[in-house]
Amino acid sequence: MKILAIETSCDETSAAVVKNGKEILSNVVASQVEFHKKYGGIVPEIASRKHIEVIAAVVNQALADSKIPLKRIDAVAATYGPGLVGSLIVGLNYAKAIAYALKKPFISVNHIEGHIYANFLNSPPFSPSLIKRGGRGVSFPFVCLVVSGGHTQLILIKDHGKYETLGRTRDDAAGEAFDKVARFLGIGYPGGPVIDEMAKKGDPKAIDFPRAMMDEAYDFSFSGLKTAVVNYVKRNGKPKKLPDLVASFQQAAVDILVEKTIKAAKNKKVKWIALAGGVSANSRLRADLSSRTKKEGFDVSIPPLYLCTDNAAMIGSAAYYLIKKGKKSNLDVEAVSTLRI
Ligand code: KG4
Ligand code: ZN
Repeated sequence: MKILAIETSCDETSAAVVKNGKEILSNVVASQVEFHKKYGGIVPEIASRKHIEVIAAVVNQALADSKIPLKRIDAVAATYGPGLVGSLIVGLNYAKAIAYALKKPFISVNHIEGHIYANFLNSPPFSPSLIKRGGRGVSFPFVCLVVSGGHTQLILIKDHGKYETLGRTRDDAAGEAFDKVARFLGIGYPGGPVIDEMAKKGDPKAIDFPRAMMDEAYDFSFSGLKTAVVNYVKRNGKPKKLPDLVASFQQAAVDILVEKTIKAAKNKKVKWIALAGGVSANSRLRADLSSRTKKEGFDVSIPPLYLCTDNAAMIGSAAYYLIKKGKKSNLDVEAVSTLRI
């Protein structure tokens, strides 16, 4: 089954053709980052306009790359939430129109569910031990840490479509904390990749920032960590070696994420841990989760970088498993900006 999938929940216009939920035949991503850079954050009005400008070209390119003509597509999928509503409706309506014209099934997909399914796509897994065993993909049940610009959630995944949210952030998402700290320090946009790069030159032990809510079960809090960085700079001024500050912030954020994920996996007695969402592109998180899982005897699935940040291939994978469970959406489904898993 070949699915054409479209993702426009935030500031990336993406279309992909995915075969049987696993094989990426094409995956085109048009980023708007350059247009939002000068504002230091995403401007929703600009985001929706830019999606409109490029959606047709992105979808055509995805079809051309896949070498699958439109009439041989079996179903059409699109993200319907959560996200910016003006952005969501562009991809959602484009996908609905194609499904209607082709008289093919339409499937609406939750963006967070999409991120999780990046772990089901056939792509080299990050974990060296898995590569050695020739293994790929996760098996049920598993714990997935979903960390992006809008969400930080620990989810127990029992089977396709069977989710139990164990914990979520009570304030800022992890990616939001990276973005806000970078903006405060004036080091660039988007904050996550900038901090990741700068931290490589710093000492993560230089400043002992607080690790919030370590004793609580699975919920997170990142706004205190962000405030601790702000207060540190207000008290001491910007350190001469800014990478030390940045690396210390990053290490605190990563320690919280890794600790809670391992705790959840142990308590829920799963064998597998998976990572998803834009922040899983973070090199320190990837390295630390990898070494901790190895030490503790868990198998770990960490998608390649291009499947961590927003992309339509993950939506195509999630849609396949929804169809297999008999799901089909009506064409009157609307965008839901606050959709939960
Ligand atoms: O999943 P995503 O592409 O969009 C949302 O659904 O939010 O995630 C974007 C978030 C941003 O906050 C960005 O700063 C963060 O992911 N991010 C990173 C890295 N790359 C992207 N955070 C830390 N380190 C990175 N290397
Ligand atoms: Zn996302």
